[in-house]
Amino acid sequence: MQQQKIILVTGGAGFIGSNCVVNWVQSGTANVINLDKLTYAGNLENLAAIEGHAHHTFVHGDIGDRDLVSRLLHKYQPDAVINFAAESHVDRSIHGPEDFIQTNVVGTFHLLEETRAYWNARIKANPAEKENPCFRFLHVSTDEVYGTLSASDPAFTESTPYAPNSPYSASKAASDHLVRAYHHTYGLPVLTTNCSNNYGPYHFPEKLIPLCLLNALAGKPLPIYGDGQQVRDWLFVLDHCNAIQRVLEAGRIGETYNIGGWNEKTNLEVVQTLCRILDELKPRTDGKSYQEQITFVTDRPGHDRRYAIDASKLERELGWKPAETFESGIRKTVMWYLHHQDWVHHVTSGEYRHWVNQHYSEKAE
Ligand code: NAD
Ligand code: DAU
Repeated sequence: MQQQKIILVTGGAGFIGSNCVVNWVQSGTANVINLDKLTYAGNLENLAAIEGHAHHTFVHGDIGDRDLVSRLLHKYQPDAVINFAAESHVDRSIHGPEDFIQTNVVGTFHLLEETRAYWNARIKANPAEKENPCFRFLHVSTDEVYGTLSASDPAFTESTPYAPNSPYSASKAASDHLVRAYHHTYGLPVLTTNCSNNYGPYHFPEKLIPLCLLNALAGKPLPIYGDGQQVRDWLFVLDHCNAIQRVLEAGRIGETYNIGGWNEKTNLEVVQTLCRILDELKPRTDGKSYQEQITFVTDRPGHDRRYAIDASKLERELGWKPAETFESGIRKTVMWYLHHQDWVHHVTSGEYRHWVNQHYSEKAE
């Protein structure tokens, strides 16, 4: 990313968006306009490190608000739009898919429409940009659009057919298809990234790793769905941010790039690793292991068995590789949560407690 590109980021108060925005603003690589609806998953505390920074402007609003998006695009004239905004939790999409359709599908459609109008205005003002675009629309997506793998299947590549299995992944797949269509039909200079499971600081504790970390410390059960042998491919969040930055700098327009950490682990292995690190850093007062708190509960409906990302295109074409191994990243993550108890207390109030009580009371041990 060249010095001080202006970027309209959506969803930049969530887990991945906030990690990326803080990183880019602090490193002086971008001037960010951050549009976020502040749903239960959005949190201004995630952005405290850049509060008042001259190169960060926070705007509270919805990607589906076309007037607002249009005003922001024309006022700030960004060099790129990076779309992180989404409803992101699979279990919530099973309980109530509507918000997922509204934001992930309809919201992305509205964002694309206004970006298309902005792009058309840009090429009218500067026809040379049509052949040699400086502008990019980068859509942040997920490996879940590819569906599920058996133990012996090869990892997902960019040409694996889409086969989404949850309302969440179906809504993300729909948004990916819209992004692709806006390139092929209207010539919008788009890039799409499909990433595996992220973990790290500011991860909202409805997701497996932060949920089990916090439950362990609170002496609560660590709920493992089904047999715990489902496999996810874990990537430290700042490696994801660096990959997005690299795709924005040098990715080929219209292409998709898989992002992953080559870290396939079963859910049980992940939770056991967390327990081992906690046993070392913050031992239980009774001397027992946190593994005693592991509890098998009813499986997620339609639970995908295995995800694995083949990120070799990104490595080959753009020279990106993750900096963290799972072992180094998970240790950093545990230490971050141990040292940020204020953040934890603030996010685990009200709405969060309601979700946890409702969701886990339905899951018999
Ligand atoms: P998150 O749920 O932590 O954050 C989502 C953010 O989007 C929140 O700040 C929320 O307030 C905002 N938002 C939601 N609806 C909005 C709307 N209509 N308008 C504006 N803002 C809105 O999600 P995350 O885990 O940070 O994921 C970010 C993106 O990355 C998503 O698109 C997700 O599909 C994708 N992704 C996530 C992972 C992962 O492991 N978490 C992996 C691959 C891809
Ligand atoms: O693969 C990328 C996706 O990773 C992203 O697109 C999603 O936005 C993100 O939420 C994540 O989806 P998962 O469903 O894989 O993440 P989650 O943390 O919810 O679950 C990880 C695994 O752990 C999954 O197999 C379900 C299981 N699980 C989850 C929870 C919350 C449990 O066993 N117990 C739990 O309590």
